[in-house]
Amino acid sequence: MTTPLLIDTDPGVDDALAILMAFAEPAVEIVGLTVAAGNVGLEHTVRNALRLVETVDRDVPVHPGCPAPILPPPASAAFVHGEDGFGDAGLPEPARRASTVHAVDAILDASRRHAGDLTLVCLGPLTNLAVALLIDPTLPSRVPRLVVMGGAVDGRGNTERIKAEFNIGFDPEAADVVFRRWPRFELVDWEATLAHGIPFERLEGWLAAPTPAARLMRAIAEKRHAWVRAHRSATHSHLADALAMAVVLEPALVAEAADRHVSVALVGEHTRGMTVVDWAGRTGLAANAWIARRIDQAGFERRIEGALIGR
Ligand code: BDR
Ligand code: CA
Repeated sequence: MTTPLLIDTDPGVDDALAILMAFAEPAVEIVGLTVAAGNVGLEHTVRNALRLVETVDRDVPVHPGCPAPILPPPASAAFVHGEDGFGDAGLPEPARRASTVHAVDAILDASRRHAGDLTLVCLGPLTNLAVALLIDPTLPSRVPRLVVMGGAVDGRGNTERIKAEFNIGFDPEAADVVFRRWPRFELVDWEATLAHGIPFERLEGWLAAPTPAARLMRAIAEKRHAWVRAHRSATHSHLADALAMAVVLEPALVAEAADRHVSVALVGEHTRGMTVVDWAGRTGLAANAWIARRIDQAGFERRIEGALIGR
Protein backbone atom coordinates (compact mmCIF):
# COMPACT_ATOMS: atom_id res chain seq x y z
CA MET A 1 0.00 0.00 0.00
CA THR A 2 1.40 3.38 -0.99
CA THR A 3 0.40 6.71 0.56
CA PRO A 4 -0.90 9.32 -1.90
CA LEU A 5 1.13 12.50 -1.52
CA LEU A 6 0.33 15.90 -2.98
CA ILE A 7 3.16 18.44 -2.91
CA ASP A 8 2.44 22.18 -2.97
CA THR A 9 5.70 23.90 -3.80
CA ASP A 10 7.56 26.96 -5.17
CA PRO A 11 10.79 25.43 -6.53
CA GLY A 12 13.36 26.69 -5.31
CA VAL A 13 16.56 24.75 -4.62
CA ASP A 14 15.49 23.18 -1.31
CA ASP A 15 12.06 22.39 -2.78
CA ALA A 16 13.87 20.53 -5.56
CA LEU A 17 15.78 18.36 -3.11
CA ALA A 18 12.62 17.70 -1.09
CA ILE A 19 10.74 16.60 -4.21
CA LEU A 20 13.60 14.33 -5.30
CA MET A 21 13.52 12.77 -1.81
CA ALA A 22 9.82 12.05 -2.24
CA PHE A 23 10.36 10.55 -5.69
CA ALA A 24 13.02 8.28 -4.16
CA GLU A 25 10.56 6.82 -1.63
CA PRO A 26 8.66 3.82 -3.01
CA ALA A 27 6.09 3.92 -0.19
CA VAL A 28 4.54 7.15 -1.48
CA GLU A 29 2.71 7.83 -4.71
CA ILE A 30 3.09 11.48 -5.72
CA VAL A 31 -0.29 12.39 -7.15
CA GLY A 32 0.69 15.88 -8.30
CA LEU A 33 2.77 18.98 -7.81
CA THR A 34 0.67 22.07 -7.21
CA VAL A 35 2.77 25.13 -7.74
CA ALA A 36 2.82 28.43 -5.89
CA ALA A 37 4.53 31.73 -6.51
CA GLY A 38 7.16 32.32 -3.84
CA ASN A 39 10.90 32.00 -4.12
CA VAL A 40 10.48 33.46 -7.63
CA GLY A 41 7.53 34.16 -9.96
CA LEU A 42 5.04 31.49 -10.97
CA GLU A 43 6.30 31.15 -14.55
CA HIS A 44 9.68 30.07 -13.13
CA THR A 45 8.36 27.86 -10.33
CA VAL A 46 6.10 25.98 -12.78
CA ARG A 47 8.97 25.51 -15.22
CA ASN A 48 11.18 24.22 -12.40
CA ALA A 49 8.51 21.77 -11.24
CA LEU A 50 8.32 20.44 -14.81
CA ARG A 51 12.11 20.06 -14.86
CA LEU A 52 11.92 17.97 -11.70
CA VAL A 53 9.38 15.48 -13.05
CA GLU A 54 11.42 15.33 -16.24
CA THR A 55 14.62 14.61 -14.30
CA VAL A 56 13.10 11.57 -12.62
CA ASP A 57 11.09 10.69 -15.74
CA ARG A 58 7.83 10.25 -13.85
CA ASP A 59 4.38 10.97 -15.12
CA VAL A 60 3.21 13.38 -12.43
CA PRO A 61 1.01 16.37 -13.30
CA VAL A 62 2.23 19.88 -12.54
CA HIS A 63 -0.59 22.32 -11.72
CA PRO A 64 0.07 26.07 -11.86
CA GLY A 65 -1.48 27.92 -8.94
CA CYS A 66 -2.04 31.46 -7.73
CA PRO A 67 0.40 33.92 -9.32
CA ALA A 68 0.64 36.26 -6.31
CA PRO A 69 -0.02 36.42 -2.58
CA ILE A 70 -3.47 37.53 -1.39
CA LEU A 71 -2.08 41.00 -0.67
CA PRO A 72 0.77 42.46 -2.70
CA PRO A 73 3.61 43.05 -2.97
CA PRO A 74 5.15 39.62 -3.41
CA ALA A 75 8.56 39.07 -1.84
CA SER A 76 11.32 37.28 -3.71
CA ALA A 77 14.11 34.94 -2.68
CA ALA A 78 15.88 35.23 -6.03
CA PHE A 79 18.99 36.55 -4.29
CA VAL A 80 19.51 33.09 -2.82
CA HIS A 81 17.78 30.74 -5.32
CA GLY A 82 18.73 32.67 -8.49
CA GLU A 83 16.51 34.80 -10.76
CA ASP A 84 14.98 31.64 -12.25
CA GLY A 85 14.74 29.88 -8.85
CA PHE A 86 17.12 27.17 -10.06
CA GLY A 87 20.45 28.94 -9.62
CA ASP A 88 20.47 30.56 -13.08
CA ALA A 89 22.18 27.39 -14.23
CA GLY A 90 21.08 27.82 -17.86
CA LEU A 91 19.01 24.64 -17.86
CA PRO A 92 17.18 23.77 -21.09
CA GLU A 93 13.45 24.45 -21.35
CA PRO A 94 11.41 21.49 -20.12
CA ALA A 95 9.71 19.51 -22.89
CA ARG A 96 6.71 18.67 -20.69
CA ARG A 97 3.69 20.91 -20.40
CA ALA A 98 1.86 21.99 -17.28
CA SER A 99 -1.64 20.72 -16.60
CA THR A 100 -4.55 22.95 -17.49
CA VAL A 101 -6.12 22.15 -14.11
CA HIS A 102 -5.46 24.96 -11.62
CA ALA A 103 -3.57 24.03 -8.44
CA VAL A 104 -6.54 24.97 -6.25
CA ASP A 105 -8.82 22.60 -8.20
CA ALA A 106 -6.11 19.92 -8.13
CA ILE A 107 -5.91 20.14 -4.32
CA LEU A 108 -9.69 19.80 -4.02
CA ASP A 109 -9.82 16.97 -6.62
CA ALA A 110 -7.03 15.02 -4.89
CA SER A 111 -8.77 15.41 -1.53
CA ARG A 112 -11.88 13.80 -3.01
CA ARG A 113 -10.10 11.11 -5.00
CA HIS A 114 -7.99 10.08 -2.00
CA ALA A 115 -10.42 11.05 0.76
CA GLY A 116 -9.18 9.80 4.11
CA ASP A 117 -5.74 8.80 2.72
CA LEU A 118 -4.09 11.89 1.31
CA THR A 119 -0.97 13.49 2.76
CA LEU A 120 -0.52 17.12 1.72
CA VAL A 121 2.80 18.86 2.20
CA CYS A 122 3.23 22.59 1.64
CA LEU A 123 6.76 23.71 0.87
CA GLY A 124 5.97 27.26 -0.21
CA PRO A 125 3.62 30.13 0.62
CA LEU A 126 0.15 28.89 1.54
CA THR A 127 -1.82 30.82 -1.10
CA ASN A 128 -3.14 27.80 -3.02
CA LEU A 129 -4.21 25.95 0.11
CA ALA A 130 -5.88 29.03 1.60
CA VAL A 131 -7.94 29.57 -1.55
CA ALA A 132 -8.89 25.88 -1.63
CA LEU A 133 -10.01 26.16 2.01
CA LEU A 134 -12.08 29.26 1.31
CA ILE A 135 -13.81 27.48 -1.58
CA ASP A 136 -14.36 24.31 0.41
CA PRO A 137 -14.06 24.59 4.19
CA THR A 138 -14.68 20.81 4.52
CA LEU A 139 -11.29 20.10 2.91
CA PRO A 140 -9.49 19.17 6.18
CA SER A 141 -12.06 16.44 6.88
CA ARG A 142 -10.76 14.53 3.82
CA VAL A 143 -7.03 15.10 4.36
CA PRO A 144 -5.74 13.26 7.40
CA ARG A 145 -2.23 14.71 7.26
CA LEU A 146 -1.00 18.20 6.44
CA VAL A 147 2.67 19.09 6.88
CA VAL A 148 3.68 22.73 6.50
CA MET A 149 7.20 24.08 6.12
CA GLY A 150 6.91 27.54 7.55
CA GLY A 151 7.26 29.89 10.45
CA ALA A 152 9.94 30.70 12.97
CA VAL A 153 8.52 29.51 16.26
CA ASP A 154 11.07 31.24 18.48
CA GLY A 155 10.97 34.48 16.50
CA ARG A 156 14.19 34.10 14.52
CA GLY A 157 12.94 34.63 10.98
CA ASN A 158 14.83 34.72 7.72
CA THR A 159 13.36 37.74 5.94
CA GLU A 160 13.87 41.47 6.16
CA ARG A 161 10.84 41.61 8.46
CA ILE A 162 13.10 40.09 11.08
CA LYS A 163 10.56 37.84 12.80
CA ALA A 164 9.00 36.41 9.66
CA GLU A 165 10.00 33.23 7.89
CA PHE A 166 9.79 33.42 4.08
CA ASN A 167 6.80 31.15 3.32
CA ILE A 168 4.58 32.74 5.96
CA GLY A 169 5.95 36.24 5.36
CA PHE A 170 5.26 36.02 1.61
CA ASP A 171 1.53 35.55 2.19
CA PRO A 172 0.55 36.12 5.83
CA GLU A 173 -3.18 36.27 5.01
CA ALA A 174 -3.03 32.83 3.40
CA ALA A 175 -1.17 31.40 6.40
CA ASP A 176 -3.74 33.01 8.68
CA VAL A 177 -6.58 31.30 6.80
CA VAL A 178 -4.84 27.92 6.99
CA PHE A 179 -3.78 28.20 10.64
CA ARG A 180 -7.30 29.25 11.70
CA ARG A 181 -9.17 26.67 9.65
CA TRP A 182 -7.00 23.57 9.64
CA PRO A 183 -7.73 21.85 12.93
CA ARG A 184 -4.38 20.14 13.27
CA PHE A 185 -1.24 20.20 11.13
CA GLU A 186 2.44 19.41 11.49
CA LEU A 187 4.86 22.32 11.35
CA VAL A 188 8.53 22.18 10.40
CA ASP A 189 9.87 25.68 10.94
CA TRP A 190 12.94 27.73 10.15
CA GLU A 191 14.47 27.29 13.59
CA ALA A 192 14.28 23.49 13.31
CA THR A 193 15.94 23.98 9.92
CA LEU A 194 18.79 25.96 11.47
CA ALA A 195 19.28 23.24 14.07
CA HIS A 196 19.59 20.56 11.38
CA GLY A 197 22.11 21.92 8.90
CA ILE A 198 23.96 19.58 6.57
CA PRO A 199 27.77 19.93 6.47
CA PHE A 200 28.72 21.27 3.04
CA GLU A 201 31.49 18.72 2.75
CA ARG A 202 29.09 15.79 3.05
CA LEU A 203 26.45 17.37 0.84
CA GLU A 204 28.94 18.14 -1.91
CA GLY A 205 30.18 14.55 -1.78
CA TRP A 206 26.64 13.30 -2.52
CA LEU A 207 26.15 15.95 -5.19
CA ALA A 208 29.13 14.53 -7.07
CA ALA A 209 27.26 11.26 -7.72
CA PRO A 210 26.59 10.40 -11.39
CA THR A 211 22.78 10.23 -11.00
CA PRO A 212 20.27 12.51 -12.78
CA ALA A 213 19.08 13.81 -9.38
CA ALA A 214 22.58 14.71 -8.19
CA ARG A 215 23.47 16.23 -11.56
CA LEU A 216 20.44 18.53 -11.45
CA MET A 217 21.01 19.50 -7.81
CA ARG A 218 24.72 20.12 -8.45
CA ALA A 219 23.87 22.57 -11.21
CA ILE A 220 21.12 24.44 -9.40
CA ALA A 221 22.66 24.56 -5.90
CA GLU A 222 25.95 26.23 -6.81
CA LYS A 223 24.72 29.81 -6.54
CA ARG A 224 22.77 29.11 -3.36
CA HIS A 225 25.78 27.48 -1.71
CA ALA A 226 27.94 30.49 -2.50
CA TRP A 227 25.31 32.81 -0.98
CA VAL A 228 24.85 30.67 2.14
CA ARG A 229 28.61 30.43 2.67
CA ALA A 230 28.97 34.19 2.37
CA HIS A 231 25.93 35.23 4.43
CA ARG A 232 24.68 32.47 6.70
CA SER A 233 27.08 29.66 7.46
CA ALA A 234 30.52 28.74 6.19
CA THR A 235 30.03 25.12 7.17
CA HIS A 236 26.38 24.06 6.84
CA SER A 237 23.60 24.19 4.30
CA HIS A 238 20.11 24.70 5.76
CA LEU A 239 17.52 22.90 3.68
CA ALA A 240 14.10 23.74 5.09
CA ASP A 241 11.92 21.91 2.57
CA ALA A 242 14.14 18.82 2.60
CA LEU A 243 13.78 18.66 6.38
CA ALA A 244 9.99 18.95 6.11
CA MET A 245 9.96 16.20 3.49
CA ALA A 246 12.05 13.91 5.72
CA VAL A 247 9.32 14.33 8.37
CA VAL A 248 6.62 13.61 5.78
CA LEU A 249 8.33 10.44 4.57
CA GLU A 250 9.44 9.17 7.97
CA PRO A 251 7.44 10.63 10.86
CA ALA A 252 9.43 8.55 13.35
CA LEU A 253 12.42 10.81 12.66
CA VAL A 254 10.80 13.44 14.89
CA ALA A 255 12.55 12.97 18.23
CA GLU A 256 10.89 15.88 20.00
CA ALA A 257 7.73 17.82 19.21
CA ALA A 258 5.42 20.30 20.91
CA ASP A 259 1.65 20.62 20.57
CA ARG A 260 0.79 24.30 20.64
CA HIS A 261 -1.54 26.91 19.23
CA VAL A 262 0.13 28.92 16.48
CA SER A 263 -1.26 32.06 14.86
CA VAL A 264 0.06 34.56 12.35
CA ALA A 265 0.66 38.27 12.95
CA LEU A 266 -0.85 40.29 10.10
CA VAL A 267 0.30 43.76 11.08
CA GLY A 268 3.34 45.50 12.46
CA GLU A 269 6.41 46.98 10.83
CA HIS A 270 8.58 44.25 12.32
CA THR A 271 6.03 41.55 12.98
CA ARG A 272 3.81 41.09 9.89
CA GLY A 273 4.20 37.45 8.88
CA MET A 274 5.53 36.33 12.25
CA THR A 275 4.27 33.06 13.70
CA VAL A 276 3.07 33.54 17.27
CA VAL A 277 3.19 30.40 19.41
CA ASP A 278 1.24 30.14 22.65
CA TRP A 279 4.06 28.31 24.42
CA ALA A 280 2.58 28.67 27.92
CA GLY A 281 -1.04 27.92 26.98
CA ARG A 282 -2.21 31.38 28.03
CA THR A 283 -4.84 31.87 25.32
CA GLY A 284 -6.87 28.81 26.20
CA LEU A 285 -6.99 28.02 22.45
CA ALA A 286 -6.62 24.37 21.47
CA ALA A 287 -3.31 23.39 19.90
CA ASN A 288 -3.53 23.46 16.11
CA ALA A 289 0.11 22.64 15.37
CA TRP A 290 2.39 19.76 16.16
CA ILE A 291 5.74 21.52 15.99
CA ALA A 292 8.77 19.37 15.17
CA ARG A 293 11.57 20.58 17.45
CA ARG A 294 14.22 17.88 17.08
CA ILE A 295 14.68 15.51 14.17
CA ASP A 296 17.01 12.53 13.91
CA GLN A 297 19.92 14.09 12.03
CA ALA A 298 21.36 10.80 10.75
CA GLY A 299 17.94 9.76 9.43
CA PHE A 300 17.50 13.13 7.70
CA GLU A 301 20.90 12.84 6.04
CA ARG A 302 20.19 9.25 5.00
CA ARG A 303 17.10 10.49 3.14
CA ILE A 304 19.08 13.17 1.27
CA GLU A 305 21.85 10.74 0.42
CA GLY A 306 19.30 8.19 -0.82
CA ALA A 307 17.71 10.74 -3.14
CA LEU A 308 21.04 11.90 -4.58
CA ILE A 309 23.13 8.79 -4.90
CA GLY A 310 20.39 6.16 -4.97
CA ARG A 311 19.96 3.29 -2.54
C1 BDR B 1 11.45 28.50 2.91
O1 BDR B 1 11.56 29.66 2.09
C2 BDR B 1 12.01 29.32 0.80
O2 BDR B 1 13.01 30.19 0.37
C3 BDR B 1 12.47 27.89 0.88
O3 BDR B 1 12.21 27.22 -0.35
C4 BDR B 1 11.69 27.30 2.02
O4 BDR B 1 10.45 26.78 1.58
C5 BDR B 1 12.41 28.62 4.07
O5 BDR B 1 12.13 29.76 4.83
CA1 CA C 1 9.96 26.37 -0.76
